[in-house]
Amino acid sequence: MQHGLSPWRRCTRPKRSPLAAVDNRFAENFTPQPIHLSRTRSCSNERSHFCVSERQSDHHMQIDPSLHSNADNYRVLTNLVVPRPIAWVTSLSQTGVINLAPFSFFNAVGGDPLYVVISIGCRDDGAPKDTAKNIQTSGDFVVNLVTEDLLGAMNISAADFPSTESELIAANLHVAPSVHAKAPRLAQAQASLECKLYHSQSLGTNMVFIGEVVMFHAADHLLGPRLQIKNFAPIGRLGSPATYCRTTDRFEVPRVTYAQWQKDSR
Ligand SMILES: Cc1cc2nc3c(=O)[nH]c(=O)nc-3n(C[C@H](O)[C@H](O)[C@H](O)COP(=O)(O)O)c2cc1C
Repeated sequence: MQHGLSPWRRCTRPKRSPLAAVDNRFAENFTPQPIHLSRTRSCSNERSHFCVSERQSDHHMQIDPSLHSNADNYRVLTNLVVPRPIAWVTSLSQTGVINLAPFSFFNAVGGDPLYVVISIGCRDDGAPKDTAKNIQTSGDFVVNLVTEDLLGAMNISAADFPSTESELIAANLHVAPSVHAKAPRLAQAQASLECKLYHSQSLGTNMVFIGEVVMFHAADHLLGPRLQIKNFAPIGRLGSPATYCRTTDRFEVPRVTYAQWQKDSR
């Protein structure tokens, strides 16, 4: 199901900083802390629907988005909703130009069928971005996932190249054909998802695209038995404009059933 481009609203977006070099200060100074899972205390007030922690303080500032500028609200949102995965999208224009650009308003939103969502704003002059135009006209796109070795190239591809010029050349990247999508996948990416456009919807000044994943591509070294993905460490986006994180500090937390929780909390 595809929708036309008409509902675009013109917008003014906060200015992003130009191609910043990778800043490793945080990573170098960060010592991973062991994770201690303590049991939640029971409520002393049986009639209460909430457990109020003894350590909860009222030192919280309320930020009402209706009182602040779009740029400030955007900064608060994108610094709180972290880390965000990055969809590095290849798409094909009507004239055959292969476009590449990163989007961190992105996530997996369905397992059966497999759906991903990306949200694309407009350019500073209010015009739609190339990726949005291409997805609308071609009906498909490929989400390539960004690992640390590709971070510099990803950053270059986020620059506002004219739609007639492919970011691939500037970023020194090349593509491989997709199986189902007209848009090719990024050959250097360790993993890519071919997506068919399922639905598009304007959302304020953004255009939201839901894609159905119709093919996975994963480098051999990522695959363990029974399609288990191992040692895959994509980069995540932290606060805007340009902070990122690695996903190499990992820990396991076993799930509990309600019955198990009841037994443990007695
Ligand atoms: C890590 C990263 C994440 C980004 N996420 C988004 C996003 O979610 N939505 C968006 O509209 N722009 C996002 N951008 C900006 C676009 O990548 C940028 O506007 C790009 O020039 C769009 O290219 P296009 O016109 O070729 O589609 C992001 C940039 C970076 C570096």
